[in-house]
Amino acid sequence: NTYKITVIPGDGIGKEVMEAALHVLNASGIEFDYTFADAGDEYAEKTGVALPQETIDAVKKSQACLFGAVGESAADVIVKLRKELDLYVNLRPVHSYGKAGKFGDVDFVIVRENTEGLYSGHEEYTDEGATALRITTRSATRRICDFAFDYAKKTGRSKVTAVHKANVLKKTDGIFKEVFYQTAEKYDDIESNDFYVDATAMYLVTRPQDFDVIVTSNLFGDILSDEGAGIVGGLGLLPSANIGDKNGVFEPVHGSAPDIAGKGIANPSAMILSTVLMLEYLGEPDEARKVEKALVETIDEGKIVTSDLGGSSSTMEMAEEVARKLSKL
Ligand code: NAI
Ligand code: MG
Repeated sequence: NTYKITVIPGDGIGKEVMEAALHVLNASGIEFDYTFADAGDEYAEKTGVALPQETIDAVKKSQACLFGAVGESAADVIVKLRKELDLYVNLRPVHSYGKAGKFGDVDFVIVRENTEGLYSGHEEYTDEGATALRITTRSATRRICDFAFDYAKKTGRSKVTAVHKANVLKKTDGIFKEVFYQTAEKYDDIESNDFYVDATAMYLVTRPQDFDVIVTSNLFGDILSDEGAGIVGGLGLLPSANIGDKNGVFEPVHGSAPDIAGKGIANPSAMILSTVLMLEYLGEPDEARKVEKALVETIDEGKIVTSDLGGSSSTMEMAEEVARKLSKL
């Protein structure tokens, strides 16, 4: 079985962590047929377009897509790709590995609505300044809440928490909360509750163990997942999956990190964990567990890891160590 994968390395450390993750995948027992595709700042400088149609078509034709990171063109690339392919779920597991985080054992998942909310792309200048539209449709809310409860059920999790600001955003988040509890009624074996987003920002650092599955709108999910990254040890550790009914795009939560780009010191873990999410999506859970195990052992040993994990190894040295471990599993 050979899987057809579109690979979009992008800009900055996106290219570096992609090379590292592909090196690890080559040590797995699975065959991939890669199609490399362009997108991002560098490509836009050369051509004037950040996300060419050929790249969108390549992703549509493949079974999954691995995406590194882009820079300033993020809105025109990844946000656009999510909308074009209707990748309505953004799944971000926040899991502590080794001793990287300062909050003990943490294991929750953020399910972020990926197509509307404040990122629906309707922003315009006015005489006074500018206005952005925050869109909440019942249908998009229903499918993201359904996904969150289904996911909880499938993965043996027991609670889904809705995060919103319905006390102030009475209509948009009022609907979000209402649809959430309508959905909850269909899953009586799964606990449900809800918090305001500001309180959640605090609870995540005071009692992160209380969270299991969080379902929330686009902007809140974006912000809370970076907070989740901080809780478990940094952006170099957080993967994500953008999933729709037809396609899946797997990418680290982080961006192109211009402050460390070109130095070969970026942590490849988030990108490697994104390939783990891709393997699960492709129906290869055993291979997914192996890649995860090889990475976790590398992080736990703490010898051949990047500087954000307290080591002094390069991106590729760490990936080579993970690949070595993987080939022995
Ligand atoms: P960023 O995620 O690129 O970096 C934030 C901080 O985390 C930096 O100090 C960086 O060095 C560190 N960091 C990130 N990934 C790391 C890794 N793998 N290993 C070690 N340290 C890591 O976010 P920032 O600085 O806000 O944005 C930089 C550029 O990335 C911007 O142009 C932004 O538009 C773009 N961006 C793109 C995204 C995407 O392609 N999906 C997502 C977020 C930002
Ligand atoms: Mg973000």
